[in-house]
Order: sequence, then structure tokens, then C-alpha cells
Amino acid sequence: MPSLPEIMHRTFFRTLSLLSPARQGMLLGYVFDWLHRTPDPWKLATDSYEQDKYRTTLKHLPARPYRRIIEVGCSEGVFTHVLAVTYPDAEIIGVDLSERALARARERVPQDGRVRFIRADILTHRSEQRFDLVFCSETLYYLGRHERLRRASAQLSQLLVPDGVLVAVHPWPEAGRLHHYLDSHAALSRLTEQVYTATSRPFAVTVYGTKPATPTS
Ligand SMILES: C[S@@+](CC[C@H](N)C(=O)[O-])C[C@H]1O[C@@H](n2cnc3c(N)ncnc32)[C@H](O)[C@@H]1O
Repeated sequence: MPSLPEIMHRTFFRTLSLLSPARQGMLLGYVFDWLHRTPDPWKLATDSYEQDKYRTTLKHLPARPYRRIIEVGCSEGVFTHVLAVTYPDAEIIGVDLSERALARARERVPQDGRVRFIRADILTHRSEQRFDLVFCSETLYYLGRHERLRRASAQLSQLLVPDGVLVAVHPWPEAGRLHHYLDSHAALSRLTEQVYTATSRPFAVTVYGTKPATPTS
């Protein structure tokens, strides 16, 4: 049974999702800039729970030489920084709606040309680039109703190259509902899911893959 703050949270973001995607994105931009009025609103850089979650998430990745990585909903780049250290040869992009968050992300992660942060809305962003690893963590629950979650799943899958990997991390049991839209997307197959319940805030790490490219004869 969701708590009252959870119900209010869901209702607020569902209401925003009744607007067109462009208007929803504009309002979400204001909301997340406001939430970032003080640095690191979710204590991602200092809370040991978050640091453990990052380490746990990385353990679920199929071992591959990832070259192009995108983190959608990167906030102030705390996990992006972990990715930059873990994959020192990869090109990494962090995407978020909040300019305030991105300004701090750019300070946190050395801007050596290999790591970049861009302001974009996951619901409407059209990326020219494709990635072999896509992360979406603690973000889908802000997108509201079913249609927007379906849209987000399509957008996330479009970011992937053939044989690419998508990792979604959200609180459990809500992750069951949120990841269902990724499960239902024709281009994605679920590779693994691990639910961690022996923690103060249970969460699920779900890993998806896209089909390998068909060899040309
Ligand atoms: C709780 S933070 C997650 C941070 C990071 N993924 C992590 O797990 O450490 C959620 C972030 O998602 C961003 N966000 C929400 N809706 C978004 C959207 N439609 N497009 C891009 N970013 C979005 C917010 O601005 C916020 O910074």
C-alpha cells in the first residue's frame, strides 16, 4: 500500500503528464530546477545507500568494452562520474532537464571532451547518436501516466545500438510497474532482474538487451 507522500508524489507527476509532452517537459524543467535550488537534493554524493546502489548496479552489467554510454536523468552527475572512472575509454553523455543540476555536473566531472552533459527531455529528445550502454535510474516515476512511460521506453530503446544494453534501476515494488513498459517494448528483451530487499529502501536492477545486428551476406 503506497504511503500518503507517495500518493501525492504520483498524483502531482501524473497531473503534469496530462499536458502535451512539450509542456510537460517545460514544467518538469521548472520543477527540477526548483528541486536543485540546493545542491544534491537526494544526497546522491554522500548517502552510503546511493553509493552502494551504484556499485551494485555496475555488477549487473554484461562484461563488455562499452564505448558509448548515456545516463538519462543524470542530475548532478554523481553516477556519471562513477561511469567516467569505471570506463576511462568510453565517451559518456549525461542528460537532464535541469540546467542547475547540469551546471554542477559539469563542475563535478572533468570536462575533457570525453564526458559531456546536455539539457534534454527524455520524452522528446531526438539523438543522432546511438549508445551501447544506456542507464535510466530513479527517473521513470517522474514521467506520469502509462502513455508517457510507453513513450519513454520507446525513446530509451531508440538510443541503443544493436546488441546494446539498457539498465533501469528503481525502487521496489514500484520498479515492477515502471519496468513493465520496458518489458513490453518489442525491441528490448529482459536479460536479468535482481531485486534487493535487505535494505532500508528496496530496489530492482533490471538489464535489457537489443537484438544483435543481422549479418549481411
Ligand atoms: C532522482 S534524480 C536521478 C539521478 C541519477 N539517475 C541517479 O540515480 O543517481 C532524477 C533526475 O531525473 C531528471 N528528469 C526527470 N524527468 C526528466 C526528463 N523527462 N528528461 C530528462 N531528465 C529528467 C531530473 O531533473 C532529476 O535530476
